[in-house]
Amino acid sequence: MITDEKFPWDSWREREAKQQPQYPDEARLREVTSALRSRPPLVFAGEADDLRTQMAAAARGDAFVLMGGDCAETFRDTTADQIRLKIQTILQMAVVLTYGASLPIIKVGRIAGQYAKPRSADLETRDGISLPSYRGDAVNDHSFSEDARVPDPRRLLDMYQYSASSLNLIRAFTKGGYADMRRVHEWNRGFTSNPAYARYEALAQEINRAVKFMEAAGADFDGLRVVDLFSSHEALLLEYEAAMTRVDSRGGEFYNTSGHFLWIGERTRDPEGAHVELLRKVRNPVGAKISDSATGDDLLRLMDRLNPDGEPGRLTFITRMGAAHIRRVLPELLEKVKDDGRPVTWISDPMHGNTIQTSSGYKTRDFDTIMDEVEGFFEAHQQVGTIPGGLHVELTGDDVTEVIGGSEHLDERRLEERYETLVDPRLNHQQSLEMAFRVAELIRAF
Ligand code: PEP
Ligand code: CO
Repeated sequence: MITDEKFPWDSWREREAKQQPQYPDEARLREVTSALRSRPPLVFAGEADDLRTQMAAAARGDAFVLMGGDCAETFRDTTADQIRLKIQTILQMAVVLTYGASLPIIKVGRIAGQYAKPRSADLETRDGISLPSYRGDAVNDHSFSEDARVPDPRRLLDMYQYSASSLNLIRAFTKGGYADMRRVHEWNRGFTSNPAYARYEALAQEINRAVKFMEAAGADFDGLRVVDLFSSHEALLLEYEAAMTRVDSRGGEFYNTSGHFLWIGERTRDPEGAHVELLRKVRNPVGAKISDSATGDDLLRLMDRLNPDGEPGRLTFITRMGAAHIRRVLPELLEKVKDDGRPVTWISDPMHGNTIQTSSGYKTRDFDTIMDEVEGFFEAHQQVGTIPGGLHVELTGDDVTEVIGGSEHLDERRLEERYETLVDPRLNHQQSLEMAFRVAELIRAF
């Protein structure tokens, strides 16, 4: 591989890098990575440190992580409205969880950088024509033509730009009064008038009363007015992630400045692979997705590589096993890690092990199955005496019809009404809130 300069975090180049785009124009790629290296950081080292400290609290049971957003962000949908609705959904879920669980909720968006996707198949075939798979807007275009599917390195600069403008908006919304809890409580208007939500109405009314009480009492402190919303994405495209890695001026350590929290996907979590090697070098809090095929030894090797000294908050395992497997597989893994003693923050991704295809060809998930996996996650932790530290979900603030079920009983026939995702099906706004209520109950009962 050609590199103009050597960086201390370049050792990933000697390892096997799965799921990388094959760029036809290497010179252009080098122009792009060199340009990225001179751009300002998107997030700051001190912010990543704060999140690491908070993730450590979640591992101890003193906080709970809510991580959510699109499966794949797209350039086209990086608009003020879509970002606002997504943030609003996350904040509303967080209010429900904060109240229901009486715990600080650590809010992390799958946002401002989630533009690249790993794919199970290299090629997509339609009507006998095979083209390279869509790998996210950071790599190629979704439309089904030969030109559109050629990986273009200039898209990495677009990804930077879209991430920067998203973060700018997120900072304005969360620090500028929009996220004020006295406004966020307006969420439950449409919610409580829906008869299907009767089960949650009591909790919703309690929350409303509590917020109104604070308002009436003149409560006015920063915790009401501003929130921290961190950004996260899958650190998939190594050229981008390496180009966004910087030396921290405070102490000479390395930080990936493309997002606060970076995770490694199920397909790229080989402990000896390039993805683990790159994230091993940075100080950010990092995660790895864990499917039902993982063994206890796999996890210990990941801990050896990513968090050898057991620094609290540094390493998160995001389990995505499938509702049918989690009760069988997870307890043994929890035991292994517990015996090791080094802290891990455990988060449940109840989406990726539960994807199904309908007879009409839609990729969907069933809300009940998703909730079943979350419940299995809590049961496994209860059984072993470990801590369920958070939730990782694919959601949107829009009224899409991508996941079936939920109290509106969205059925298969309705998927075609508003199916907008380019990759995986997302919870819509109502399903997201419903999940928050259900998870709040699970935390309360734990
Ligand atoms: C994802 O989070 O969209 C994803 C592809 O997850 P996983 O790596 O768990 O399959
Ligand atoms: Co996904």
